[in-house]
Formats: sequence, structure tokens, C-alpha cells
Amino acid sequence: MNWWSRRAENATAVAPSLLSADFADLGRDVAKMESAGADLIHLDVMDGHFVPNLTFGPLVVAAVRRRTALPLDAHLMVAQPERHFAAFARAGADAITIHIEAVPDPGAALAEIGALGLRRGLSLNPGTPLETVLPWLDRVDLVLVMSVEPGAGGQSFQPAALDKLRTLAARRAAAGLGFAISIDGGVNAGTAPDCRKAGADILVAGSYLFGAADAAAAVASLR
Ligand code: DX5
Ligand code: ZN
Repeated sequence: MNWWSRRAENATAVAPSLLSADFADLGRDVAKMESAGADLIHLDVMDGHFVPNLTFGPLVVAAVRRRTALPLDAHLMVAQPERHFAAFARAGADAITIHIEAVPDPGAALAEIGALGLRRGLSLNPGTPLETVLPWLDRVDLVLVMSVEPGAGGQSFQPAALDKLRTLAARRAAAGLGFAISIDGGVNAGTAPDCRKAGADILVAGSYLFGAADAAAAVASLR
């Protein structure tokens, strides 16, 4: 069993992104995704600096924490994310995912997340070469490959992300490492098969899952 899913080791995990939820009914939507078979919950934190958009902070993570036992991954699309690690830990996040573009010293930032007892996630934008994250693979629990520009849901999947997944899977196998490989942006029933084949363990999806009439069927279609 992996930390990101209670399913069999090789089962693809599904992480609904709450960005597409109804924020006036967040508890209901989290419960809906949990009963639909979600493995973990993905929380998109945006600061208006690292990305133009603004979303929410630790207060909302704490509110979600009270409504589900699923692992919570806080995807921090923020400048100087280090300033907020302790607050997200207190809010009940299980994992904090930072952007390599946002931290001058990824090793130090990842160590701080680990010292708080949380899983360490590292993400990279579509335009950022994979080589930038390769030195840190032995110090992460999750690599989150962005397949759209961060900042908004509902964008089209950028297939160049698949090469990054393949390289990560090959590196992980060659080095005997155990981090999770995840992909975020434009994931739906049409793009998920390529993501799975390329080596993704966790599929993050927002608009596809929350736009579906049958959430359980939508979650199953990604697996
Ligand atoms: C984008 C976010 C994603 C987003 C995905 O900045 O990191 O998690 O919500 O949304 P969809 O699945 O609609 O592309
Ligand atoms: Zn995200």
C-alpha cells in the first residue's frame, strides 16, 4: 500500500482538484468525491504572484480536513512557499507540493516540509526542463508534472508532459526510489490512458471530475 492510496500498489490513484468544486458547498463536494472513490484530495493554493489567480489558504485546508480522512495534498502555486509550511501543517495537510520555480534552495525547502512530518512534493511548470528536478528525486515523496500552465482549471492537456513522466519513471526504477509520479492539468478520460502508460501513479483532475454527471463513473474512467 502506498501513502497516496489504499488501493493495490500498482493501481492508479485519482486526486480531485477542488478548484472546480462549489466553494459554497465544499464539504458536500469533498464527500461526493470521497464516495466516488477518490484516493486523495488536491488543493490548489494560488497567491496572485506566482500565478495571477488567487484561491485560498490554510483556513480552507483545515475546513476540508474536518470533512475527510483522505490524504490532503496542498499544491502551493505561491511565491516564497516556505513562509506557509507550518500553517499548512497545522491545517492538517498530509503533503505539501512546492514549485521548483518558486524556491531558491529546493533541498532546504523540501527538508523543511519533511521536518514537519509531511510528504514532500515538487512540481514543475510545462516550460521548466525536467533536469531541474532530477537532483532532488531522492528527497521527494511526489513529483507533480504540470501539463498546463498553473493558474486555472479547464485548460487543454499539453502532451509534452508525457515525456517528463516517462523519464521520471525510468529514473525512479533505475535508482530504486519510491516517490509518486503525478500529473496535473487537462486530465480526463481521453488523456488519462496516455498518462497511465507514461508512468503516472496519481492523476489530478478538476473540471473533468466536477463536471461529470456521475462522479464515481468519472473517477473509474480515469483509472
Ligand atoms: C492548475 C491546477 C490544477 C487544476 C486542474 O493550476 O494546478 O490542479 O485545477 O484543473 P483541470 O483538471 O480542470 O485541468
Ligand atoms: Zn494543482
